[in-house]
Amino acid sequence: MTFPHLGPGRSQGVIEEELEAMRANDVAWRDGRAFTLAYSAGPDVLAVAQDAYQRFANENALNTDAFPSLRLMAGEVVNTVLGWTHAPATGAGFMTSGGTESLLLAVRAARERRRRQNRPLSGLNIVLPTSAHAALEKACSYFDVASRRVAVAADWRANLGAMQDAIDDGTILLVASAPQYPQGVIDPVTEIAALAMANDLNCHVDACMGGVTLTYLEQLGEAVALWDFRVDGVTSISVDLHKYGYTSKGAGVLVHRTKELRADQTFVTQNWLGGTYGSSGILGTKSGGPIASAWAVMHYLGDDGYKRVTASARATALAIASHIDEHSSLLLLAQPDATLLSFASNDDRLDIFMLADNLRRRGWYLDRQGPPPALHLTVNAIHDKVMTIFIEDLDRAIDETISDCRKNNTTASGSYGTIE
Ligand SMILES: Cc1ncc(COP(=O)(O)O)c(C=O)c1O
Repeated sequence: MTFPHLGPGRSQGVIEEELEAMRANDVAWRDGRAFTLAYSAGPDVLAVAQDAYQRFANENALNTDAFPSLRLMAGEVVNTVLGWTHAPATGAGFMTSGGTESLLLAVRAARERRRRQNRPLSGLNIVLPTSAHAALEKACSYFDVASRRVAVAADWRANLGAMQDAIDDGTILLVASAPQYPQGVIDPVTEIAALAMANDLNCHVDACMGGVTLTYLEQLGEAVALWDFRVDGVTSISVDLHKYGYTSKGAGVLVHRTKELRADQTFVTQNWLGGTYGSSGILGTKSGGPIASAWAVMHYLGDDGYKRVTASARATALAIASHIDEHSSLLLLAQPDATLLSFASNDDRLDIFMLADNLRRRGWYLDRQGPPPALHLTVNAIHDKVMTIFIEDLDRAIDETISDCRKNNTTASGSYGTIE
């Protein structure tokens, strides 16, 4: 019997051809055409990342007794992030598969801390600004914790007073972002952490986007608001490596102020017939690829490489932001604190999502978001090479979209993530 979707085996050559054919309509992110989802610091970095990944792709980091190489590499990666985040000597962390897993575990850790304290586990909630990442909603949904979203202030940063008002006996965690994704600004971390401390709560800083960039912007001499463990009261921080660390997908780090707090994210059981099962995160079996890729790229770039790619991404982000700010049909929602920015239409004749469609036809991929309806740019090191042509295409696409909107009287929409 043969199964219709599989059929007889094919040769490696045929498989390779088919794989390449399937990616024909994918966004050309290696050429800087994606302002979201994929990051590139150039072909040499990519080659290092992919070589390391494929060497360890089928190794399993579930049990590093069998693969001490992975333990060594993950340990060095985590130590680097502990350094970036100015963790005290008590600090400890684990690699995760990325931002979503880190945020899930930050919520889980806050709940487990409550359990350790022998306090009630019903009616729990977390308090977070409306700007904090959607993965925190996923965490609340998975762990049956209520999400208390608090409207951001006029400058898109967390509103401290409103967060304070939302705290009650069921609150286990306050969240700040550095920067938040939608408008790219940093929340008042010092104040939020002080509020958490005053209420004996965990305070998680989501630096999935900013952890690398803010570290090196400070090294480059920019004035960066404090966002890391130098702030009293911050209990955990997430930093993604598969974003501005320029490593392969599947690599993030969640660091905690102490080992005791880190223990709140782990899981151990003997309640089955297979012996002791322990894991640091949500996955069981996990590929060694992302770990090796992260280790290799971080050592390949080093501090000087990260300074260079951070300076490049920042300069490009500021140049694009300034062009948008000066364009009469666009509204820059906030001056970027790092390398993320978003803009809305400032012109009744311009549908912002139709503009995204128009840019897509020209090969550019931007995230669509809201409220308010806006487009988002995650500017990274590759964009330096395409900035001029992007700005020209943006201006042309705006004029064209205005005239199309007039003719057809239609609107478009879109989403940040997809289900199928
Ligand atoms: C601020 C922030 N946190 C968390 C995440 C989730 O990260 P991931 O998509 O790697 O799971 C993102 C993703 O863009 C983000 O921007």
